[in-house]
Amino acid sequence: MLTAVQQRQAENRQSPKLENIRKLVVIGCGGYIGSHLLEAVLPRTQIEVFGADPITSKIEDLLAAPNLRVHRGYLRQHETLDTLEEEISSADAVINLAAICNPAEYNTRPLDVIYSNFLDSYPLVEMCSKHKAWLIHFSTSEVYGRTIASYLGENRYDDPALYELDESTTPLIMGPIQNQRWSYACAKQLLERFIYAHYADHGLPFTIVRPLNFFGPRMDYIPGRDGEGTPRVLACFMAALMDGQPMQLVDGGHARRTIVSIHDAINATLRILENADRAQGVIFNVGNRNNEVTMAELAEHMRRIYAEVAGDDAYRNHPIEVVSADDFYGEGYEDCDRRMPHLERAETLLGWKPVLTLEETLRETVDYYYDHYVKNPAAGQIAAGE
Ligand SMILES: NC(=O)c1ccc[n+]([C@@H]2O[C@H](COP(=O)([O-])OP(=O)(O)OC[C@H]3O[C@@H](n4cnc5c(N)ncnc54)[C@H](O)[C@@H]3O)[C@@H](O)[C@H]2O)c1
Repeated sequence: MLTAVQQRQAENRQSPKLENIRKLVVIGCGGYIGSHLLEAVLPRTQIEVFGADPITSKIEDLLAAPNLRVHRGYLRQHETLDTLEEEISSADAVINLAAICNPAEYNTRPLDVIYSNFLDSYPLVEMCSKHKAWLIHFSTSEVYGRTIASYLGENRYDDPALYELDESTTPLIMGPIQNQRWSYACAKQLLERFIYAHYADHGLPFTIVRPLNFFGPRMDYIPGRDGEGTPRVLACFMAALMDGQPMQLVDGGHARRTIVSIHDAINATLRILENADRAQGVIFNVGNRNNEVTMAELAEHMRRIYAEVAGDDAYRNHPIEVVSADDFYGEGYEDCDRRMPHLERAETLLGWKPVLTLEETLRETVDYYYDHYVKNPAAGQIAAGE
């Protein structure tokens, strides 16, 4: 019998109504979301996919698909832009996933983050506007910044209006300039405004997706195995479990996030593609309100599930330690307190609802990392050197 995760994956590969899409351009196709999107779309051989990404290790096993062509290059390169312009002129939709989107880099590589999330992408927006190509841009829920409740002191979460995130009405509140962690959120927000202005002034058909913590296999590298640095929280916790190091909770792990399975998120993306008439001109939160956890709770869940997957109860008590944001991320870090999305828009316009629970999502993810890096350590070397 199929698990709930396998059922959702099967549904994604078979979802019926993509006949309006003959050609799709995907920039950042080699990343985490891109690799799952290609897995769902490529079996439909009537859809031609043109991808662009300098790094393709996560999609190596898809590269032979007859309906996939990939240009290996960065958006900022003239050759990439020229190639993309030609491809976009005949595309039914353009999905932009390209970004530096790792919190550990927002305050340590702010210029690269701003280039990647705004300056590299704005020529793409202009190109789509010129050719009236439908741009589906992946932004971020970080554009909301911190909640109003967080500025009002403790215990203001009794009023959802002070912390829930609505695509049309919630103000976007960011911290001071010297807190450079806002470089990402701010660059993403400016690109959203640029896209919207092109829509208003030149009729650019657009959809903006604001993802809220898509979790699943292949999300990030594991430091010391197939990458260096500090990845997103999931891979940090996985690395600590696999390497026998303490799981580190930044500032006590009080920050709350809602976690949605990558397969639910891909389902939302496919529904956008299937419903151009309803999705164009719209911004969508994509998340799961039922799967809210503090980072401290996430660490607890992950060590319990890891103990089950590894068949070793000792992991249930794997050490967890508290570290300051300055020690973990460096100066200029400041966290978003909570992200509880309104999802009525995606439900009403796309008929989309997330179905996978936190337990199912984490179980699949921990299983994947354990299989990939512990049971089959050679596999973890694939991306090395890129
Ligand atoms: N995964 C999430 O939960 C999440 C949350 C919020 C926002 N997002 C957004 O979704 C998008 C995709 O996220 P992801 O998790 O797949 O990230 P990822 O880092 O796994 O993938 C991004 C891909 O873009 C490529 N890329 C980066 N800069 C590029 C450039 N200038 N030109 C061409 N390719 C470039 C990278 O090589 C990488 O393969 C990003 O815009 C990100 O900000 C994702």
